[in-house]
Amino acid sequence: MTTDENLAAVVKTSQGDYRVVVGRGVIDEIGPEMKAAGLTGRAFLIADVAMFPQSVHEAHEALEKSGFVTNVMTLELNEQAKTLDTAQEIYSWLSEHRAERVDTIVAMGGGVAGDLVGFVAATWLRGVPVVQVPTSLAAMVDASIGGKTAVNLPAGKNLIGAFHQPRLVLQDVAHLATLPEREMAGGFAEAIKHGLILDPQLLDTFERNAAELQRLEGDLAVQTIRRSVQIKAEVVSADEFERGETRMLLNYGHTIGHAIENVSGYGKYFHGEAVAIGMMAAAGIARRLGMIDQELVDRQRNVLKLYDLPVTVSGVTADELIAATKTDKKSRGGSVRWILLEGPGKAVVRSDVPEDVVREAVEEVIADS
Ligand SMILES: NC(=O)c1ccc[n+]([C@@H]2O[C@H](COP(=O)([O-])OP(=O)(O)OC[C@H]3O[C@@H](n4cnc5c(N)ncnc54)[C@H](O)[C@@H]3O)[C@@H](O)[C@H]2O)c1
Ligand SMILES: [Zn+2]
Repeated sequence: MTTDENLAAVVKTSQGDYRVVVGRGVIDEIGPEMKAAGLTGRAFLIADVAMFPQSVHEAHEALEKSGFVTNVMTLELNEQAKTLDTAQEIYSWLSEHRAERVDTIVAMGGGVAGDLVGFVAATWLRGVPVVQVPTSLAAMVDASIGGKTAVNLPAGKNLIGAFHQPRLVLQDVAHLATLPEREMAGGFAEAIKHGLILDPQLLDTFERNAAELQRLEGDLAVQTIRRSVQIKAEVVSADEFERGETRMLLNYGHTIGHAIENVSGYGKYFHGEAVAIGMMAAAGIARRLGMIDQELVDRQRNVLKLYDLPVTVSGVTADELIAATKTDKKSRGGSVRWILLEGPGKAVVRSDVPEDVVREAVEEVIADS
């Protein structure tokens, strides 16, 4: 039996619909949820070593308790490990254990675990079911939903991948207890972004309850993650393959954000931090185009600062950042497509932004030092 108490969303896709369950302690529900999703066979739990031993054991026990014969592999799953070599290691392990089409792969960890293990599931025997158990805030509100899987190549991030929708996404808020603070802040950047582009009420919640939400205490934290998850789920359901403009809205702050990551060298700014600065640059553009007023720019800056996110960048020049936006894969046909706010909780795509406007806005987020 599954209950709907913790159900955040049902994602509707061409590969099938699936539940996103969010709550504290919901890892105990993994067995019944998998059964309700029609999964039988064995379970292959592939977990980020960061979750070892306690959370991995709990997941293992919960699976066995429901009758899933389970094999467990734990390995280091961070950005450096998001390679074909790591995928190869997992393929070998699956092969040793003769994992079959009827079996299920369970991916437990941050966005890297979700992307990489998801990619392995998409390709092993031409595709086996995958269940996502994201353990970072960023993976919960973003990466675990939508079926994008990938590994990196030396030539660039996420160059090899597939759309492979999970059969279930199970998010246990208790898993966040061990997540490092900076990773947590990065996750908040993406969650706050959802409020900024699509839900003024969510933005309000983030503004009013920063201390409580950062401590992850009480029901509010769970409800807020659920709401952020719902937004991602709705966007994916409306635009599964990123053909229209809806899913593109999720790239708010990412044009300059990716440029910052590129120019600074990956690692100096965490992804969510770079996105926070990128959102400030985008807000500066929107204000210059008369789309929003200074008050919303200030509101956005304040809420980001409340969650310990940076709002300016150092050690880079405007020229470098602007050059990097032009090579970003999100630009098409020469012009950069900007996601800009029209108001709180309202975003649009614009490809007609003059370069001098971009330059002024970018200069504004570069720290003087
Ligand atoms: N598929 C998508 O739609 C999508 C969307 C956004 C990002 N991504 C991908 O997601 C990745 C980023 O995800 P991320 O921010 O979760 O990074 P991550 O997976 O590298 O996790 C960040 C760090 O936190 C550790 N960690 C994770 N959960 C933990 C926990 N509960 N306790 C302690 N440590 C924990 C990890 O080991 C890692 O060192 C990138 O590779 C990105 O390309 C994918
Ligand atoms: Zn992002």
